[in-house]
Amino acid sequence: MKATARANTNIALIKYWGKRDEKLFLPMNRSLSITLDGFYSTTTVEFTEELKEDKLIINESPGSNEDRNKISDFLTKIRNVAGTNLYATVTSENNVPTAAGFASSASGFAALAAAATKALGLDLKDEDLSVIARQGSGSACRSIYGGYVEWDMGTRADGRDSVAKQLLDEKEWKLTILSTIVAPERKKVSSRDGMKRTVETSPYYQGWLNTVSYDLMEAKSAIKERDFQRLGEVMESNSLKMHATMLGARPPILYWDSGTVEIMNCIMQLRSTGIPAYFTIDAGANVKVICLPEYEEEIKRVLMELKGVLQVISCYPGKGVSYIE
Ligand code: PMV
Repeated sequence: MKATARANTNIALIKYWGKRDEKLFLPMNRSLSITLDGFYSTTTVEFTEELKEDKLIINESPGSNEDRNKISDFLTKIRNVAGTNLYATVTSENNVPTAAGFASSASGFAALAAAATKALGLDLKDEDLSVIARQGSGSACRSIYGGYVEWDMGTRADGRDSVAKQLLDEKEWKLTILSTIVAPERKKVSSRDGMKRTVETSPYYQGWLNTVSYDLMEAKSAIKERDFQRLGEVMESNSLKMHATMLGARPPILYWDSGTVEIMNCIMQLRSTGIPAYFTIDAGANVKVICLPEYEEEIKRVLMELKGVLQVISCYPGKGVSYIE
C-alpha cells in the first residue's frame, strides 16, 4: 500500500491554454512539450486504515489548504478507479523552485499519479497513467513520458482519448533549455483561473484556436527533421500568441515583469548577431531559452549579465516517470 515515484517537469513548446471541460481537464487544443531533466518531484504515497483524511507533507512542511484539497480530490479519482475508501499520507519533495513561479504541477501530479496507482496495486500502462495525471493538472499528462511529447486533445466527452504520447526519446535530440529565474514571488493568477478568464473574455482566443494546429504540425515536422531554427521560430511565436490572448482578457492578465522583457529583447538581439536562440514563457514571469548545446555557455553568460536575471539553470531533455524502490 506504499509506493514512491519520481517525475520531471516539462516545458511546452506549443502551449495548452484553455479547457473545454473543467472537471476532466480536457483541453481546447493539442500541445507539445519537452520533459526536462533538471526539475523533478519525488512523491511517496501510503494508504492506511488508520487515517480519517488525507495527509500532505510538501518539502517537509504541511501544504496549504488549497494544495491539500486539490490533492485529496485527485486521490479520490484514483480511489474510485481502484474501488477503495482508504486515505493516504502523501510526502512530496520538489526540487522545482515553486516560489519562483516555475510550474511544479506537472511533475507533482505525474509523480503523485504514478505513486498512488502503484500503491493501490493498479498496474497501468503509460497511456492510462497519462489520462489519470491529466486530471490533476493538464500539463502533468505529458510528464509521464521522457523527451519530446505530444498531448492529443481527444474528442470523447469522457476524456479517454485526451492523452499524451512520446514523439521522440530524450536521447535522440539534445537541446539545451536555459531556465532563467527573474521573479522570486509566486505568480499572481493561477493557470487554472488565467485560462478560464481568457477563454471566456478574450476576443483573441479564437485567433489562437485557429492557428495552434498549424503551429503544432510545424513543430512536429521540425522535430522530425531536427531543424532547430524552424522549431525555435514556431515555439517563440506560439508562446507570444498565448500571452497576447491573455492581454485581451477582461481584466487583462500580464505575467511578465521587467526581467521577462529584458530577456526577450536580449534573445532577439543575440539572434540579430547570428546566435540561434529562442524563448518561451509559461504562466509566470520566468523565461526558458532554447539553444543548441554548443551555444549554451555563451548565451548563459550574456543572460547572467542582465539586471533582472537572478539565476540561469541549464536543463536538457529528461526521462519520463520512474519508480523508486
Ligand atoms: O497544467 P497547468 O495548469 O500547469 O497549465 C499549464 C499551462 C502552461 O504552462 C502555460 C502551458 C503548458 O502547456 O504547459
